Amino acid sequence: MKSSNVVWHQPGVTRTQREQQNGHKSAILWFTGLSGAGKSTLAHGVEEKLHQMGCHTFVVDGDNVRHGLCGDLGFSDQDRVENIRRVGELAKLFTEAGVIVLTAFISPFRADRDRVRHLVSEGDFLEIYCQADLAICEDRDVKGLYQKARAGQIPHFTGISSPYEKPDNPELVVPTGTQPLEECVQMVIEALQSHGILAPSTP
Ligand code: ADX
Repeated sequence: MKSSNVVWHQPGVTRTQREQQNGHKSAILWFTGLSGAGKSTLAHGVEEKLHQMGCHTFVVDGDNVRHGLCGDLGFSDQDRVENIRRVGELAKLFTEAGVIVLTAFISPFRADRDRVRHLVSEGDFLEIYCQADLAICEDRDVKGLYQKARAGQIPHFTGISSPYEKPDNPELVVPTGTQPLEECVQMVIEALQSHGILAPSTP
């Protein structure tokens, strides 16, 4: 911590008041998985559904954040740690704002994801593993990056020349590699209901 002589200002409008007004709890839905596993697609699919249900949501996406907030970071281990640290802090602010924030980052290191988990209160962080084998992601190769990585044109590429550590005990595993999007979206919505983020009766 480099900031000194800084005193925390207590907000007049509390998170609880915001949650009451919104009619749902705030939470971090942390989507993790390989590039091409379908994290962004699932996060946006869930957001659409939640939006239709009248929930306050926001998707924070790796590919977008790296154009701005994290535009100074690359893909070394150290830069990925800092990427996830910043996004974790950002996501925490969203929970204070009463929002369900959906983050879509490879976030390959278990320790980084756990650090975000411990940044917020128990139950605020739902780790959602987008399970898709490397072979499937590579076969999809939506952005053509796997081909480049195999050709040695992208250093430290996750799954090829940089590790991905699967979650040990995620709140939810979604088979994004094999199941249709709609089914995956429904799994997340049900998880939100069972974790008390949404009321169980919400359609
Ligand atoms: S993370 O590892 O720091 O969590 P993040 O989710 O922000 O990564 O960004 C991943 C996206 O950046 C990938 O979907 C891909 O489009 C792009 N990318 C560019 N270089 C790499 C790389 N070396 N490894 C993985 N993804 C990369």
